[in-house]
Amino acid sequence: MRDLPIILLGIGGVGRCLLRQIMAQRAFHALNYEVSLAVLAVADRDGAVIEPDDGLSDDLLAELCAFKEAGGRLADHALGGPQGDLTGIVDIAGRAGTIVVDCTASTATVPALLYALDQQYKVVLANKKPLTLDQEVYDRLTTAGATGRNGQAPVRHLGRARWEATVGAGLPVIATLNRLMASGDEIERIAGAFSGTLGYVMSGLQAGEAFSAVVRAAHRLGYTEPDPRDDLGGVDVARKALILARGLGRRLDLEDVTVEGLYPASMAPLTVDEFMAALPDLDANFAARVADAAAQGGVLRYAAVIDAAGCRVGPVVVPANSPLGLLQGTDNLVSFSTRWYTPTPLVIQGRGAGGDATAAGVLSDIMELAFTA
Ligand SMILES: NC(=O)c1ccc[n+]([C@@H]2O[C@H](COP(=O)([O-])OP(=O)(O)OC[C@H]3O[C@@H](n4cnc5c(N)ncnc54)[C@H](OP(=O)(O)O)[C@@H]3O)[C@@H](O)[C@H]2O)c1
Repeated sequence: MRDLPIILLGIGGVGRCLLRQIMAQRAFHALNYEVSLAVLAVADRDGAVIEPDDGLSDDLLAELCAFKEAGGRLADHALGGPQGDLTGIVDIAGRAGTIVVDCTASTATVPALLYALDQQYKVVLANKKPLTLDQEVYDRLTTAGATGRNGQAPVRHLGRARWEATVGAGLPVIATLNRLMASGDEIERIAGAFSGTLGYVMSGLQAGEAFSAVVRAAHRLGYTEPDPRDDLGGVDVARKALILARGLGRRLDLEDVTVEGLYPASMAPLTVDEFMAALPDLDANFAARVADAAAQGGVLRYAAVIDAAGCRVGPVVVPANSPLGLLQGTDNLVSFSTRWYTPTPLVIQGRGAGGDATAAGVLSDIMELAFTA
């Protein structure tokens, strides 16, 4: 049985689902892969619990999940302590073969991730932010360990990092992109719906609901962030589009992604309550856009499109009978139009959010790296 050491940064919704899946799949991974995942350290924003030798026991991991679910801080846990230095945690807890897993939503993990790769460890990301900072950080994260001619990492070679869960949660979007690239296929266009929240809003508009009503319902149902503008602004989708575009080899920054949000800049300074109250001002415009789309035989979808013209995110009119046009509700969808996948694109569709689906994508990445040098 081979030991597979894990350091987990972030023990929120996804991190806890991951720990529970690791525990639930122990016998499966032992029997089929002959590996045993040992969680050496778990960190939240200002605390950590570390057991570099034997790893944290399953009883303790289950207790930590319950403790975090109840709102606890690892800094206050009997076996935990404060931390202000994730790199130090990787340094203390890491050993040969360690996989550092980023389930935070923070850029503060970047030094620890780069340090881990410098130590020849491996990295798995559910967190989009490290991959959407400077191109240089993206390059270092995604190609570390891939040595090519003159010691330069070849752009296309996968190194010691995986980041499947950053786009479409557990859906195999990044793996598919990398496989298409590896075959030398020419990807002409990627179009996708990567926000369950915005999918819900667009489906509601298509069904004839007023924009204000559908946004308020999404807010009430917990589909949106506490401030719905965090979803409606489109920046989270833009980060996913940037990760895909960079995966194609485009050298772009977040500022290069054209983003059209679903509310005007004049509504940005409002409080959340004022914003919710002002939503009906947008109803007539959206109703007209939906009617215009229908008159063209299309429907309105919030999509990310990457093609020869660039990388953009916003509402687009798509044919009603296209994969994107047929998409309903909160599902995610990505379609790859390539030299070989034409006229029918390669389409991946399914649940694109949720702790367990996301954690399953992370766990698959961990298992893939377990067998990668
Ligand atoms: N949920 C989904 O459906 C989904 C789908 C795809 C991708 N993702 C991505 O997965 C990541 C995790 O999502 P989530 O839903 O689990 O978020 P979450 O519930 O907000 O959990 C985030 C965790 O990260 C910790 N954290 C924040 N800043 C930190 C720092 N500087 N150092 C160490 N830990 C830090 C938080 O600590 P505290 O507990 O102390 O606050 C918390 O434990 C995010 O990047 C998200 O975008 C989520």
